[in-house]
This record gives sequence, structure tokens and C-alpha cells, in this order.
Amino acid sequence: MTIRTFDYLYYKTRGYSDAEISELTKTKLEDIAEMESSCIETLKEIEALKPKAKNIGEDFVYLTRYVYAGKSDQQLGETRPDAIKARSGELQPLPAVGTLKFDSKSFQKVVAERRTHRKYSSEKLSMEELSFLLWCTSWSRDYRSNEKSEFTFRNVPSAGSRHPLETYLEIRMVEGLKPGLYYYHPIKHCLILLEEGQEIHQKIYEGCLRQEMIARSAVNFIFSAVPYRTSWRYGQRGYRYLYLDAGHVGQNLQLACENIDAGSCMIGAYLDEAMNDALGFDGKEEFVIYIASVGIKEA
Ligand SMILES: Cc1cc2nc3c(=O)[nH]c(=O)nc-3n(C[C@H](O)[C@H](O)[C@H](O)COP(=O)(O)O)c2cc1C
Repeated sequence: MTIRTFDYLYYKTRGYSDAEISELTKTKLEDIAEMESSCIETLKEIEALKPKAKNIGEDFVYLTRYVYAGKSDQQLGETRPDAIKARSGELQPLPAVGTLKFDSKSFQKVVAERRTHRKYSSEKLSMEELSFLLWCTSWSRDYRSNEKSEFTFRNVPSAGSRHPLETYLEIRMVEGLKPGLYYYHPIKHCLILLEEGQEIHQKIYEGCLRQEMIARSAVNFIFSAVPYRTSWRYGQRGYRYLYLDAGHVGQNLQLACENIDAGSCMIGAYLDEAMNDALGFDGKEEFVIYIASVGIKEA
């Protein structure tokens, strides 16, 4: 069978006939029929949830107004969630935050010249550059913990300083780092190797709908959300804040890239299931929220 499940579901759920799908995806009709039988349960679920999905955006905005909030878990005295994820693995230190020095462009120039870049040179990113990008987006400048709550404070704002986002890197071309998937520890300012090798790259490339910048980049940033960190304090309204927080992180990343003459492309078009599977997330307690490819700009 040559057709990918996503391509099949994409066309099928939009009402294309089998003949049309066959033509569009250059797949034999018997392979389409085989795909249909393997997707039958998924198709049933999609059909059943379609009426709910139709207005979910509007409903989300309407039903996350304060008047629907009720008491949050924090107000009900539920145990505080951790401020960051515990991860074990080989530690890879990064150049210390205090040592980072870059010729500074003016802030005005950085903002004026920020652009999306989808093509990169084959040059490696240095560890200093990577450390700088992580400092801008994800580093925790302060950490406070007591029985009632646990906070980090970072170079981006976050509702209630809950900082529900985690940072994962798919390293491809960074000096001194083996290719693979890493977790960034925001308090220790170091990387933790989760998975070495090329296999993870292919999954991420596919998950991002084979967008070429993913395969040309030096590093792909994958930001995940741990929603309970925010919904513990704000209930369902907290889900709004996840996306607002992600926007701040994305903007800091793009500006930081511009400052060091790297290029970046923010990515919202990805297959949730494929990306969550690749990173081992269940899609509820933790899920991919935003992705960015980064590389040295082409000369
Ligand atoms: C939320 C969001 C999602 C995006 N997703 C993609 C994407 O999946 N693929 C892509 O090529 N560009 C993506 N972009 C980049 C936009 O296409 C780009 O920002 C826009 O064309 C404006 O260009 P500029 O950033 O150079 O000003 C995304 C940007 C944002 C903010």
C-alpha cells in the first residue's frame, strides 16, 4: 500500500470519491479499499465528532469566558503540578548564559529585519548560538518552590508565570552535538539526549507534512504544552493561555535568530498524532503546540 494514512483521511473526510483519491495520490483503487478497511474505526469516530468539531473554535472562545470558570484546582487545594518535567538521560552542558556575547544589532533593526526563512546553508550552528536561542526562548532565570506552588521565571511572559511549555530539539547540524532528539532543561541550562540517530528526523519530517525547511535546518525546535500546569490555576480558560504563551516563545525565537543572522520558520501545519507519537506524548497531558526550523541563512 503506497498511500499514507493521513493523505487518505485528508481526502476521504473532505468527501472525495475513491476514484478521485486514487488519481490525486497516484494509488491503485485496491490499495484505497485496503486503506478504507484499516481506517474504518477512525472514520467512524471522525464522522461522529464532526458536528462538535464544526463550531469548536467559537465554542472554545465562548465557553472559556470567566463566567464559566468555576473554582480552579488551585482554589480547591489540589496538589501543585511540577514547574518542569523530570527527564533522565545523558547530560550535555551548554555554554553558560553569562558567557554569551554577540555583536548586538539594534533592537529596531532586529524587529525591522525579522523574516521567515525556509532555506538554510549547510553550515553548522555553534553551541554558543544554540545556547543563546534557548536563553531567549526557554531558559529559567529564576525558580521558586514552596508547598503551595512551583514557578519558573523566564525571558518570555507566561500567564501566572505557569510556563506550561517544554522545549525539545531535533539536532541535525550543531557543532559538538550528535544528531538526535534532546530535551532542554530550563533550570540547569543543559540538554538531555533522549534519542540518538536519524530515525526521529524522518518521523518529524513526515509529521510536519514533509515541509522542506525541516530537512534543511540545523535544528528543529519542538515546543510542547503541559496544560495542567496552567489549567490547575485557570481551569479551561488556561488553554487559551497555552497558545498565547507559545506565541511569545515563537516571537522571541525569530528575533533571537535575526540577531545572530540565523533564519527560522515557525510551523503550525503538522500532524498532531504523528508529532505526539514521535515524541512519546499522549496528546492530552502533553502535546506538541508549536514547531520551528532554524538554520544559518543562505549567503
Ligand atoms: C502560527 C504560525 C504558523 C505557521 N505555520 C507555517 C507552516 O506550517 N509552514 C510555513 O511554511 N510557514 C508557516 N508560518 C510562517 C508564515 O507563513 C509567515 O510568518 C508569513 O508568511 C509571514 O511572513 P514573515 O514571517 O516573513 O513576515 C507560520 C507562522 C505562524 C505565526
